[in-house]
Amino acid sequence: MDDQTFAQPAAALRDARSVVILTGAGVSAESGIPTFRDTMEGLWASFDPQQLATPEAFARDPGLVTRWYDHRRLGCAACEPNPGHLALARMEREICALGGEFTLLTQNVDGLHRRAGSADPVELHGSVMTWRCSETGEAVTPPPPPAPWPGFPPKSPSGAPVRPDVVWFGEALPEEALERSFDALSSCDLLVSVGTSAVVYPAAGFIEVAVANGARTIEVNPKDTPMTPIVTWALRGPSAGILPLLVERAFD
Ligand code: OAD
Repeated sequence: MDDQTFAQPAAALRDARSVVILTGAGVSAESGIPTFRDTMEGLWASFDPQQLATPEAFARDPGLVTRWYDHRRLGCAACEPNPGHLALARMEREICALGGEFTLLTQNVDGLHRRAGSADPVELHGSVMTWRCSETGEAVTPPPPPAPWPGFPPKSPSGAPVRPDVVWFGEALPEEALERSFDALSSCDLLVSVGTSAVVYPAAGFIEVAVANGARTIEVNPKDTPMTPIVTWALRGPSAGILPLLVERAFD
């Protein structure tokens, strides 16, 4: 990709007063995070993830569902943030140092944005790294990786099964996360969407909301998405390569 490709989006980033980032699974691809489907190997090969990631599955067999999520928790903990995550953390520091506003919205549950130094990401689908009592909602801290929970399902101090703090199919997105998202989208002048197929709502609709509010938009993805026709600039390639170049071009 030639230098000219970055000139306009980098200038828009440098000049933006309020930036929203929306990330999806692609931003973690170069960290080796297994996709939903890729975690279904070995012991898990005969299961359908759509059948495990539901409140009904947890009610039916909490031991099985929590064992699978602990496998995913330890898998994520064994991966490291990549240069794309680190570039987003630097972008936040640069924008905030210039007095701007910065909000990172992620659909990922892997916790890698926090580990890369992003201050307060909005985790739209929750996180496999944090767990809570299924009855009271009280946080229950898992053993530090690589140690698994001592038994499945794990139990809270009150004896109820503990569940991962993720949004399952059929569950609503956390209200606070949605509020923070729409607040940020209503005032942003630049939205950068990274590594998302932009087909799962409401996150996919966030790009449309930003465009309707007059924001400029950058899409970072090796492939076209349904939102490509409406974005201002499409930067084609893996985010671990593109994001560091964009941030360097904007702030160095
Ligand atoms: P998807 O798996 O739907 O899309 C991943 C996107 O990342 C695709 O557009 C790829 O082209 C792109 N991609 C692949 N490698 C990349 C790389 N190295 N750099 C940048 N982009 C790359 O993932 P999401 O859009 O995150 O929901 O999907 C959203 C939600 O759908 C997920 O959170 C999950 C799933 O159902 C729940 O778990 C509730």
